[in-house]
Amino acid sequence: MTKNKPKNNYQGGAEEFKGFTRLSSNENNDGPSHRVKTAIKKNINFSNIYPELDGETLRNQIAKTYSLNSEQIVLGAGSDEVLQMIYAAFSKPGDEVIFTKYAFAMYSIYAKNFKCKPKIFNDAQFQFSLKDLAKLASSNTKIIFLANPNNPTGSIFYKDELIQFIKKINKNTLIVLDSAYCEYLQDKKYENGLSLIKKFPNLFVTRSFSKIYALGGLRIGWGYSSLKNISRIYQFKKPFNVSRLSCIAATEALKDQPWIFKSIKNNEENRKFTINGLNNSLFKTIDTMANFILLEFKHRNIANRFVQYLYKNKITVRHLASYGLPRHIRMTIGNPNEMKKTIKVCNRFNV
Ligand SMILES: Cc1ncc(COP(=O)(O)O)c(C=O)c1O
Repeated sequence: MTKNKPKNNYQGGAEEFKGFTRLSSNENNDGPSHRVKTAIKKNINFSNIYPELDGETLRNQIAKTYSLNSEQIVLGAGSDEVLQMIYAAFSKPGDEVIFTKYAFAMYSIYAKNFKCKPKIFNDAQFQFSLKDLAKLASSNTKIIFLANPNNPTGSIFYKDELIQFIKKINKNTLIVLDSAYCEYLQDKKYENGLSLIKKFPNLFVTRSFSKIYALGGLRIGWGYSSLKNISRIYQFKKPFNVSRLSCIAATEALKDQPWIFKSIKNNEENRKFTINGLNNSLFKTIDTMANFILLEFKHRNIANRFVQYLYKNKITVRHLASYGLPRHIRMTIGNPNEMKKTIKVCNRFNV
């Protein structure tokens, strides 16, 4: 390895997957549905053909699935790329952006890249209050990034709280609601944001196909906002930014909603099974409503050792040290066999 190897600022989960139980990147371990795999196979021979310029077929399918205007949708190579486009389109160097202390890492990485000034809300309580967060914003705030549910803490807020929050924020401030894990929440009090765009044109919702839709490897996500905001974003979007196969896979995945509902139910059951099964006194479990849980240790050294121990047992999890949480481990919820094995291995851990 050369000394000057280019380095990415983002510290991702483990890359191992063959022979491993992968609980490190909040993927859907069932993999894409049969219908999606068939569509990919059928279309692989057309990989020489450029995709549609702006992914019209997929945008139409998203619009149909969620009753939206397809003109107000922008596609990205993962919601990561949508977040990047948001920074490119709506910020300039020196602009103030707000996000929470334990927020998804890309908000701060892009803030650095785009030379914005981050103002951090300290969510030491994990389950933070939007009321308190609103107090941090002013007319100088350009963008606020909020994930609901949040990764890595799993904190959530409900619709009423969200609406009150948006009302308190200056109309010239863009509120980005990152709903990457929203499908896991079926509670009526929860709102992924799509239905609020009409009333609040400064709201921008981002969505991912990497989580419940099981397409993380294909890099596909999308954003939804007012026509004005989306028109602006298009000035910064590369042509053909999402691949032909990604668009086909995502389109088919959306058509397979029964499969999605089954995945939601599976996650719910497997998460409860995991929380109930884990009983090692060396860590505390923190449940979430998404597809992961957290384990909290007393000391960072024990958390470190635990990660190494799991790795030896061919299980990868995510140590949250790079998020400023060295005593916490994030564990994705896998399928029943994976979780049965994981529970057994975790409960046997000793120091
Ligand atoms: C809260 C949140 N937002 C966005 C992303 C990015 O997802 P993707 O670019 O794969 O759509 C992730 C990935 O883990 C995430 O946890």
